[in-house]
Amino acid sequence: MKAIAHEEFGSADVLELKEVRKPDVERDEVLVRVRAASPNPWDWHFMRGLPYIARLAGAGVRKPKNSVLGSDMAGDVEAVGNEVTRFRPGDEVFGFVRVGTFAEYVSAPEELLALKPANLSFQQAATVPLAALTALQGLRDVGEIRSGQRVLIVGASGGVGTFAVQIAKWFGADVTGVCSTRNLEMVRSIGADSVIDYTREDFTRRGQKYDLIFQLAGTASPSACRRVLTPKGRLVLSSGDSPGRFIGPVDRIIKAVLLSLFIGQTLSPLDTKPSSKDLKFLRELIEAGSVTPVIDRTYPLREAADAIRYLETGRARGKVVISVSAAPTTSKAAPWKPRAQIAPENR
Ligand SMILES: NC(=O)c1ccc[n+]([C@@H]2O[C@H](COP(=O)([O-])OP(=O)(O)OC[C@H]3O[C@@H](n4cnc5c(N)ncnc54)[C@H](OP(=O)(O)O)[C@@H]3O)[C@@H](O)[C@H]2O)c1
Repeated sequence: MKAIAHEEFGSADVLELKEVRKPDVERDEVLVRVRAASPNPWDWHFMRGLPYIARLAGAGVRKPKNSVLGSDMAGDVEAVGNEVTRFRPGDEVFGFVRVGTFAEYVSAPEELLALKPANLSFQQAATVPLAALTALQGLRDVGEIRSGQRVLIVGASGGVGTFAVQIAKWFGADVTGVCSTRNLEMVRSIGADSVIDYTREDFTRRGQKYDLIFQLAGTASPSACRRVLTPKGRLVLSSGDSPGRFIGPVDRIIKAVLLSLFIGQTLSPLDTKPSSKDLKFLRELIEAGSVTPVIDRTYPLREAADAIRYLETGRARGKVVISVSAAPTTSKAAPWKPRAQIAPENR
């Protein structure tokens, strides 16, 4: 089968379109014919082997442990192992399976998968797993979001942020999104009640206080964020932005957790977990029309390295798609439309 593989750590230049062996299916696994995948910052940690702590966490110490890159995908089930009970050939599924999705086939344990939302294309569905799981688990499990709270999402225009704005609105929060000038309208149109342009204003220096801050971008320190948290407020740290080659953002996270021991506010890191239960919950929100993926660009599988390079610019608006089995001829998807303009067949 065709796959995007790398034999060494490095920039996107190490990625090659190759012919590799189709994966075997273990007894508890599902073999999926991948229709579309979607890159995440997670993938470039595996590609670069940086920060070094990522190598100990499963990327491989000297060279990549899994040569095929990619963590998110949507596709249809081709075969199942004899212990699989929830899926059968022909089912349309999606999931965050950690490795191997930039390929024509991937096999994954059934507990990492869920049936794809019926109202999404494979391309749309592939953008959901890691980004929307991060948004959901960050807001609900770590942030303990409640209806009526004031919630600030820093990085509201990115892959996770565009899901976080919509999910926080679903929970009944009053949502403020932090983004740059060009994304203000888009972030408002997905439901943000207010927006702050970070190129003109520092959100940590405004008078407004928030019950929950979800930090997905930028490098505002936990102490700076505390200035705009209510006395019992929560800061959820998910930003991987960090020049650190050894432990990446971990030092910022450790400082925040230690500081949290001595103050009334809670400063917590987020570690997103694969969860078919949460994927099913997200499917319901999507099928009810409460959450719609925002797609920036679509690349064919052979241009996956360019998809990663684009994501690495830090300027993606919503999600980037890698189309696997039906590669488009152009590298730009139909532009994302505000919810009111989305045709019923695309919702
Ligand atoms: N902890 C976990 O388990 C976990 C899981 C998934 C993701 N993450 C992390 O979460 C972060 C967000 O991921 P993502 O997929 O959403 O990334 P992304 O899609 O690459 O984010 C890009 C967006 O960030 C915005 N941005 C850049 N600098 C900003 C700033 N200073 N203030 C506000 N917005 C800014 C950009 O908007 P402009 O172009 O307008 O600047 C762009 O829309 C990453 O650091 C990732 O590593 C963590």
